[in-house]
Amino acid sequence: MFKIIGGHQLSGIVQASGSKNSALPLFAASLLTEDESIIENVPDLSDIQFMAEIIADLGAEVEKLDPNTWRINPKAIVHFAPYDLVRKMRASICLLGPLAARLGRAEIPMPGGCVIGNRPIDLHIRALESLGAKVELKGGVVQIDAANLKGASIFMGGRHGSTVTGTANAIMAASLSQGTTVLDGAACEPEIVDLCEMLTKMGAIIQGMGSHRLEIQGVSKLHGCHHRVIPDRIETATYAIAAGITNGEICIQGCQPKHLGAFANVMQECGMEMESSPDGNLSIKVSPGGLKPFEVITLPYPGFPTDLQAQTTALACVVPGLSILTERVYPSRFMHVPELLRMGAEISLEGSSAIVLGGKKLKGAPVMASDLRASAALILAGLAAQDETWVQRIYHLDRGYDQFETKLQALGADVERLPEEALPKSFIPQFE
Ligand code: EPZ
Repeated sequence: MFKIIGGHQLSGIVQASGSKNSALPLFAASLLTEDESIIENVPDLSDIQFMAEIIADLGAEVEKLDPNTWRINPKAIVHFAPYDLVRKMRASICLLGPLAARLGRAEIPMPGGCVIGNRPIDLHIRALESLGAKVELKGGVVQIDAANLKGASIFMGGRHGSTVTGTANAIMAASLSQGTTVLDGAACEPEIVDLCEMLTKMGAIIQGMGSHRLEIQGVSKLHGCHHRVIPDRIETATYAIAAGITNGEICIQGCQPKHLGAFANVMQECGMEMESSPDGNLSIKVSPGGLKPFEVITLPYPGFPTDLQAQTTALACVVPGLSILTERVYPSRFMHVPELLRMGAEISLEGSSAIVLGGKKLKGAPVMASDLRASAALILAGLAAQDETWVQRIYHLDRGYDQFETKLQALGADVERLPEEALPKSFIPQFE
């Protein structure tokens, strides 16, 4: 649990960590070869630990050389992953492509449910079937027979646009398929570009990186490599919001400002001043004119990231006026709203939109984190609120934010990590 005493303006310098959503597919990609790979600038997170345990369970040698560097030697691996680990983390679905391509078969349990919304894998399966794989779902396990994959033209788009990990699986499988594969409607998130960069170092032949159309020339074998993970754009943006919500001034070092896409536009629209430097520093503060209401619609990259919607909803609570945030990726990703209401926020949910009447001072309260980005949103709200905010179930946060409380403390926040049972009894309703 986090205990936060709000009201402090955050200012100073914070170092961006490596991207969780890049590192996870990169770990999976290391299985495409028998050779050893070294991956550095990996964020020190529980999701990374889960992925490392799954890969070790497959039979690979996995060693954490330091908190941010991993050595993976996948010489001898089997094609089936353990249910009890896979169900903890949806991103393990990224193993489908590499195992099918390297071993000709794969058995991965279907990922479990998720509070942010429905997480189907139909596009992953459609892509692998297009390459010639036979896919069956038996007892909740996706079983793939992919004896000899052949290149194909595949459309990656779905009801909600492109699929990030679906595109990752398709690229990884195509890189060892015979012939040429063309992916149309591919995701072009920076994490996908990072994956293509690492695969290219391993010997893959990929054209169109960064675009929605990728052309992959299959090769017979890939080799190991040494790769550095890109900075985490969602973490970077979360600290930018921390500056806005506390009226402070923060410099995020070692980030990639150009990866912020539509988020940077929204920050300017709502009255934040952002200054970036070529060596990857981003300074951000509230402009003299103050914060203004804004509108956000979440979309696949380069649109506004769904992974920033909860944090930006928290920001909207302190912006005088009416702001609207609409989810086009996960229409029900609003588990943070009832908790923000407990802090005095004025938000109404209309379909897949949150309509926020901001400007009232938030009041500290005990609140419950439900998922990774909701926990960040509640902490941001606590930084701006009067008095004490107690954010429970902070294990959600540890999945995706590296040393969050340490970094916030260095910026002047009064935040403390406590055991769950430290919640004052006065907050626990005494039922007769
Ligand atoms: C990635 O998940 C991220 N996770 C998510 O971040 C992020 O929210 C999401 O992309 C969207 O940007 C990782 O990269 C590990 P999708 P992913 O497949 O790849 C629909 C976080 O907080 N869809 O791009 O699983 C799906 O329902 C996490 O760090 C299908 O219809 O997401 C959704 O509406 C949460 N069929 C949309 O596409 C499919 O087969 C985007 O999903 C796959 C997806």
